[in-house]
Amino acid sequence: MIPDHATIIEVGPRDGLQNEFNYVPTDNKVSFIKGLKEAGVREMELTSFVSPKWVPQMKDAKEIVASCLDESRNFVLAPNRKGIERVKETSVSAVALFAGVSNSFNKKNSNKETDQLLEELTVLVDELKQDGYFVRACISTAFYCPYEGKMALNDTLAICRKFVDAGVDELSVADTIGMATPREAYFVFDTLKKEFPNTLLTAHFHDTRGMALANIYACLTAGISRFDTSAGGLGGCPFAKGATGNVATESVVYMLERMGVETGIDLDKLMTAVDDIEPHLSRSIDTPYRTLYKKEISAKSN
Ligand code: HMG
Ligand code: MG
Repeated sequence: MIPDHATIIEVGPRDGLQNEFNYVPTDNKVSFIKGLKEAGVREMELTSFVSPKWVPQMKDAKEIVASCLDESRNFVLAPNRKGIERVKETSVSAVALFAGVSNSFNKKNSNKETDQLLEELTVLVDELKQDGYFVRACISTAFYCPYEGKMALNDTLAICRKFVDAGVDELSVADTIGMATPREAYFVFDTLKKEFPNTLLTAHFHDTRGMALANIYACLTAGISRFDTSAGGLGGCPFAKGATGNVATESVVYMLERMGVETGIDLDKLMTAVDDIEPHLSRSIDTPYRTLYKKEISAKSN
């Protein structure tokens, strides 16, 4: 079942930076994004058109888009109609909407009850599709919620079903707080594949408990070949208590390439992009791949 090619959707500039304590200047975000593209990334979440009062780090969304659009697939997130109106003032052609399975999470993240949120977002999906956009729906707390605990698979499927019926091209299904195990990852994605055979399915794992690589392997065995990852393992949702970084792009690319699953991403160039952003962050980047890489570079130069 393991595919021989996988698509990496780089979410570092969005999920990675939205939780960053330091404000990263726009030019440095742009240079990070360009470095990631240089490394071979062909699908990326560039930024989000959310409320700058809620997430000040994303207040330069319009400038980011103006500098970074190219022929590859560049997603921007939008939380509501206001966000979509802002997106439509740009040349973006791929949009990501987001909703959680958990009602408590939706109240914290989107300031809406689930029903109200889904009503607004599904109408937006329909409008976006009529206007020719590529639309992905990001489904948060698909496994566990920091406020409500374990989510029922039927509830996750029901939310996915609403977006699929509304016409999304892709579902990105997330383990927001990194609690899923490989058995759960396999079961959920195997079921999603059967339920939604005509929708692109992407796995989005946060690595809070070090389970993400094992979960990605489990997804591969279920035939999933699209993964959201973040260079340097940056990331986390500011409105999900305890959410930490996404699985690191370098760890996933290293594992996949060594398994013979082609990603098209050059690890040395990826590390250059990480070198570029690190000085602007409030913490150092110490994923296992990166730490070893730095040691090897310094050994060579001595
Ligand atoms: P609200 O305060 O209820 O919004 O927030 P409102 O509709 O009452 O509007 C209040 C003010 O915000 C108004 O301005 C609006 O114009 C403005 P004022 O009149 O006070 O000057 N406003 C906006 N401005 C710019 N862009 C907008 C926008 N909307 C309203 N789009 C809202 C509701 C949804 C806006 C807020 O809750 C929000 O921005 N939430 C986003 C939270 C977020 O970014 N979370 C992280 C992304 S999701 C994620 O990370 C999970 C994921 O990675 C998967 C996983 O791991 O689980 C995808
Ligand atoms: Mg996330």
